[in-house]
Amino acid sequence: MQANAIHDGLRTQRLGRPLLVYESVGSTNDVAREMAKADAPEGTAALAGEQTGGRGRKGSAWASPSGGLWLSIVLRPTIPLEAWPLIGFAAGAGVAAALESVSGRTIQLKWPNDVILESRKVGGILVESAAGVAILGIGINVNVELDALPEDVRRGATTVLASLGRTVDLSVLTRAVLEQVEHFYDLLSQDSKAVLRAWRRRSFLSGRSVQVGSTHMLEGIAEDVDDSGALLIRTASGVQPVTVGEVSVRETRPR
Ligand code: BTN
Repeated sequence: MQANAIHDGLRTQRLGRPLLVYESVGSTNDVAREMAKADAPEGTAALAGEQTGGRGRKGSAWASPSGGLWLSIVLRPTIPLEAWPLIGFAAGAGVAAALESVSGRTIQLKWPNDVILESRKVGGILVESAAGVAILGIGINVNVELDALPEDVRRGATTVLASLGRTVDLSVLTRAVLEQVEHFYDLLSQDSKAVLRAWRRRSFLSGRSVQVGSTHMLEGIAEDVDDSGALLIRTASGVQPVTVGEVSVRETRPR
């Protein structure tokens, strides 16, 4: 992909300016972190055709074959540090809006920041922060055959290609992601509640029976996300906020 093809018609103030495009890198988050260390301005972005060492949350590997959207953006947030966890929610709302507009399919968000298409994970967001900088990593399985993903990932995952039965224009999608993420990231410093409202409208878990963690298991019905971004679960002993942990759905219920 060419940076020019993405820049032509890009309607952002900061995100993707500049945008550096690589054929293959270890992780775009590492590339963006190095750029940040070299004083890259907010919005500087790294996009790769493939990643050989893509990272997911909790230190997991993130399969990043050619055809996907593997993007990292340097952010220098001015919001209070305690609001930084909401950056992932702003990014999720932006990615979902962008992917929905380009694919024409409903996109949902699974707490904390999985991007969901037809009840399967189609993308994820990884925010890594240090010393005044947040590196926002966005991964979407776009024009990727399901078979190109490792078998253990494939079970709960999908790709835009597998779902639509056709490819989508990666430049158009990248532009839409940069524009929508900028919109919600800017909104975060003006009205964080509006960001969370947009996120909640797409919440995949709300109303579903879930369990959290593997040792001290918490079970209940996922209700909402509070203003700090915690997932609220109604358990037998009341509503419990959850701030960390992997959430799995126990059954599919009508909402
Ligand atoms: C997750 O759901 O676990 C988060 C996945 C984040 C993947 C993206 S791809 C671009 C950026 N570079 C990485 O190494 N990871 C993020």
